[in-house]
Amino acid sequence: MENKQFVLVSRPAGVPSAENFKLLDVEIPQPQDGEVLLRTLYLSVDPYMRARMNDRKSYVDPFVVGGAINGGALAEVIESRSAAFKSGDTVLGYLPWQLYSVAKASALQKIDPSLAPLTTALGVLGMPGLTAYFGLLDIGKPKAGDTVVVSGAAGAVGTIVCQIAKIKGCHVVGIAGSDEKNQYLKEELGVDATVNYKTGDLKQELRKACPDGVDIYFDNVGGQVSDVILTMINHGSRTIICGQIALYNLEQPDQGPRVQPYLLVKSALMQGFIITAYTARFGEGVRQLAQWLQEGKLKYAENIVEGFENTPQAFLGLFTGENLGKQLVKVTEPST
Ligand SMILES: NC(=O)c1ccc[n+]([C@@H]2O[C@H](COP(=O)([O-])OP(=O)(O)OC[C@H]3O[C@@H](n4cnc5c(N)ncnc54)[C@H](OP(=O)(O)O)[C@@H]3O)[C@@H](O)[C@H]2O)c1
Repeated sequence: MENKQFVLVSRPAGVPSAENFKLLDVEIPQPQDGEVLLRTLYLSVDPYMRARMNDRKSYVDPFVVGGAINGGALAEVIESRSAAFKSGDTVLGYLPWQLYSVAKASALQKIDPSLAPLTTALGVLGMPGLTAYFGLLDIGKPKAGDTVVVSGAAGAVGTIVCQIAKIKGCHVVGIAGSDEKNQYLKEELGVDATVNYKTGDLKQELRKACPDGVDIYFDNVGGQVSDVILTMINHGSRTIICGQIALYNLEQPDQGPRVQPYLLVKSALMQGFIITAYTARFGEGVRQLAQWLQEGKLKYAENIVEGFENTPQAFLGLFTGENLGKQLVKVTEPST
């Protein structure tokens, strides 16, 4: 068995590139008491990892230059020194970009692969699905008939937000960066109207798609797309700040329109959130999302890149819109 690991070798200025990562040969670590040895099956690549490449403290610590990149992952236990797990168990954890790694048993969650396809634990039934669920329902408080606009609509979080808003009886407008993605949103997910922000006249098309203005804006991207939507918010509207991917690669912060006058005259709410604030309620979220999946009310898309060595490319593709739905890397098949 050989082991490999991706480390961060430099911090990007602007858009990250493959040169920021390096693949190293490393030893297979030995588990100690209370630990397990894991074989990585799937890695999740996520936009928030871009912020961790900077040398700035945020709600998660920066990656260390020369240290392994880490993130959400599914793995198989191949040796256990903990009563909590046995060889062959599938687990969800926060693991290094590494073929084999050791983790504390207390930091892992056992996944039952018979309940749902394994990868849903990193997508619709995992962090992105929960982000959509709590962000929209807890902050947005959708009511039947509300107009809900979703940016980054064809991504891991956005696809689930669109569908939950439809379940709640809303008029849903999705914004995504390709016609293929918008076609998926309309034809597969039942989104009422879509706009391609790269090719269309965003303002004009959104006016057409939202004749009664915007009651809820679920913001995954920020930047100029959000600047336009802000001019269309209704009295009492709710804007949920989930992500700002359009800004993550800026070298200097830019100045958009000042938002306070819009919020003031429309008595509107704008609220950011980080999904970990809802950890105590994850069980509730997963149960509801799983029920909607089972009932066929919720669908999910995945974009799976094959091969551990392609992990940086899969991550970089988030910033050029390669993914429809959740972006994952398949490292290897489970053995059972
Ligand atoms: N608050 C939280 O706790 C939390 C949790 C999870 C995720 N998030 C945030 O939610 C957002 C979505 O995350 P995700 O995991 O679902 O990612 P995702 O939407 O699956 O992937 C990123 C997508 O962003 C779009 N994009 C990239 N650059 C853009 C730009 N400059 N302007 C507009 N769109 C751009 C691309 O789609 P197009 O083809 O449409 O451009 C790309 O496919 C991210 O901003 C992320 O940081 C927040």
